[in-house]
Amino acid sequence: MSESQPPICDYEGSDYQEKFWEQGSREYEDRVEAIALQRLLPKGGSRLLEVGAGAGRNTSRYQGYQQIVLLDYSRTQIELAQQRLGESERYVYVVGDVYHLPFAQEAFDAATMIRTLHHLVEPQKALSQIRPTLVPGATFILEYANKRNLKAIARWLFRQQAWSPFGPEAIEFTELNFNFHPRVVYKWLKQASFSPERKLTVSHFRINLLKRHVPLNVLVALDSMMQRTGNWIQLTPSVFQFASVEGAPGRVREGSIWRCPECDSLELQTTAEGLSCKGCKRIWPVRNGIYDFKNPL
Ligand SMILES: C[S@@+](CC[C@H](N)C(=O)[O-])C[C@H]1O[C@@H](n2cnc3c(N)ncnc32)[C@H](O)[C@@H]1O
Repeated sequence: MSESQPPICDYEGSDYQEKFWEQGSREYEDRVEAIALQRLLPKGGSRLLEVGAGAGRNTSRYQGYQQIVLLDYSRTQIELAQQRLGESERYVYVVGDVYHLPFAQEAFDAATMIRTLHHLVEPQKALSQIRPTLVPGATFILEYANKRNLKAIARWLFRQQAWSPFGPEAIEFTELNFNFHPRVVYKWLKQASFSPERKLTVSHFRINLLKRHVPLNVLVALDSMMQRTGNWIQLTPSVFQFASVEGAPGRVREGSIWRCPECDSLELQTTAEGLSCKGCKRIWPVRNGIYDFKNPL
């Protein structure tokens, strides 16, 4: 972690899950995201990594996987996820940074990153961390905020917005919140050695007036019908991209999944305090069932 550290959108202590999802009238967005995930994710597998898991809003949607590893930079978000999902061998709770993932190569046969790329100053660096943790044949589902959405296009045409929705540059609409161009995200995935395949456009009707006046089930059904148009054109604020790792499907590694995020050693021994790294002698604490790769002892 000694090399340069990009700034991080820190959710420590945030009431995001409660305010944004539970009290924020976002049932429509939540339901259409669930449909997209169900369409893109294989029915099941061995071990799935959820990057930027937050309070685990999506975790119950990965039922077909034997084990789910939730990683988030914020300990309080991971604690919320643990409260919601409970302690069990199925769920592994990890506090860590996507730029310095604490996982060995080929530890997972699936990964998701939903509503997290838009906080990353260096998305390519994050994608290049995720890729080696996946076995050949693995699936990666990436959701990102699309700058080329209809609202941005209309605002630009009517001169309400200076930046062009068609340019490749990322748009930071508020601090550490970025919208990206679909072509650029596609290029980053290729550069990180993923094979990007189909896309679903999601949240076609994210307009308050519509959400207030059209019945929820109707909006969800219409969105569901339109999601597959994402293979041809993406004009929604949110895009779900399916990418795979080339190669004949392999088995996830057996034994320990851990790698020291500081020195890359795979020799991490379980002790009473946590995981002790043989390489750099750091101890990564495990407290209340949560692995902490941010604050070594
Ligand atoms: C908008 S929330 C999304 C949470 C969840 N995926 C969802 O859709 O409900 C973004 C999450 O990304 C996490 N995050 C931001 N930067 C991160 C980083 N560098 N490494 C790991 N997690 C990060 C935040 O802590 C936050 O929980």
